[in-house]
Amino acid sequence: MKLVTKTGESEFFVGRSIDDLLSLCGSRKAVAVIDQNVRRIYGERLKDFEFIEIGEGENSKTLLTVEKIYERFLEIGVDKSHIVIGIGGGVVCDIAGYAASTFMRGIPFGFVPTTLLAQVDASIGGKNGVNLKGYKNLIGTIRQPEFCLIDLNFLKTLPKSELMSGLAEIVKAGAIADLSLFEYIEKNYLSILSMNKEEINKAVSSAISIKIGIVSSDEMEQWERMKLNFGHTIGHAIEKVAKIPHGYAVSIGMIAAGKLSVSKGLLDNSQLKRITDLLQKVGLPIKIKANKNDVMEAITKDKKRRSSKINMVLLDGIGNAVINAVEEEDISNILDGICL
Ligand SMILES: NC(=O)c1ccc[n+]([C@@H]2O[C@H](COP(=O)([O-])OP(=O)(O)OC[C@H]3O[C@@H](n4cnc5c(N)ncnc54)[C@H](O)[C@@H]3O)[C@@H](O)[C@H]2O)c1
Ligand SMILES: [Zn+2]
Repeated sequence: MKLVTKTGESEFFVGRSIDDLLSLCGSRKAVAVIDQNVRRIYGERLKDFEFIEIGEGENSKTLLTVEKIYERFLEIGVDKSHIVIGIGGGVVCDIAGYAASTFMRGIPFGFVPTTLLAQVDASIGGKNGVNLKGYKNLIGTIRQPEFCLIDLNFLKTLPKSELMSGLAEIVKAGAIADLSLFEYIEKNYLSILSMNKEEINKAVSSAISIKIGIVSSDEMEQWERMKLNFGHTIGHAIEKVAKIPHGYAVSIGMIAAGKLSVSKGLLDNSQLKRITDLLQKVGLPIKIKANKNDVMEAITKDKKRRSSKINMVLLDGIGNAVINAVEEEDISNILDGICL
């Protein structure tokens, strides 16, 4: 699969082995940015690479980490004849892509995403960056990685909550753009959950292909790309207030957006029930113990806000996302049935 945009082209290799990474780098010298966890688990298999190790998790996503990477680039003598490879979850990919796309005004980079979320979401689309003073992804670039090598074997060591975060994004991809993917997950969720090779490959490939399609039509997020935020406007607020993993919050956010879609006459109750049933079957939550007013406050502080209305991604049927400006009051009413 290939993503072609104004800022570059990315090739996606789904189901390939990490052992093929060297051949994708060609004759170039490869420098791998990796976090301490992934290095601990997989370092032995990657001994051919020069490593730059960073701390694990969201707290590492800072300009300070990027500065340390630049300093290591200087020590190693990294230039345009090198290729930087981010090997890890979304945090590593976002940081490695940002460091590579700004060092010497941009050196080539590729990704080996090792979490399900990074494989189906974070490594696709060229958004690279770091956080600043609690604002997520405030600093960044849009520049495409040369390739993404997706080795599904990495998923075997992933903690359950990380797996769930990726799964929520796959359901989201089906819900916004592809009824047949949604149906596929309905039918095969048990095989997907137990990481059966064929079913997980199909689910991951379909989700990637959906994101590629959306990004190629609107790389700079003028409109269409916003549809990937389905479940995220309310989800991000719930994630912040209730301090739960991203995918769990997005799941609840999708239910809230689904209920709003029903209230606007866009979605049938039976379709909302299908979404609710699927999320529950895979083990994702649909409600949360949280203070509704705190969640509302977090939503209205969100950067997607426009006047008293908030741009929300709704569903005009499963597989067809639309963007509507919704009154804060309507969101508040919906949250009555979501925040317990
Ligand atoms: N650029 C984008 O378009 C985009 C899209 C979505 C999310 N993101 C970003 O992605 C980040 C979240 O990514 P994430 O959920 O992958 O989190 P993460 O990168 O923090 O990884 C989660 C945890 O799993 C560990 N891990 C990674 N691979 C593993 C493996 N194979 N086995 C065991 N443990 C492993 C990591 O060390 C970490 O502790 C956020 O910062 C978010 O902003 C970016
Ligand atoms: Zn997300």
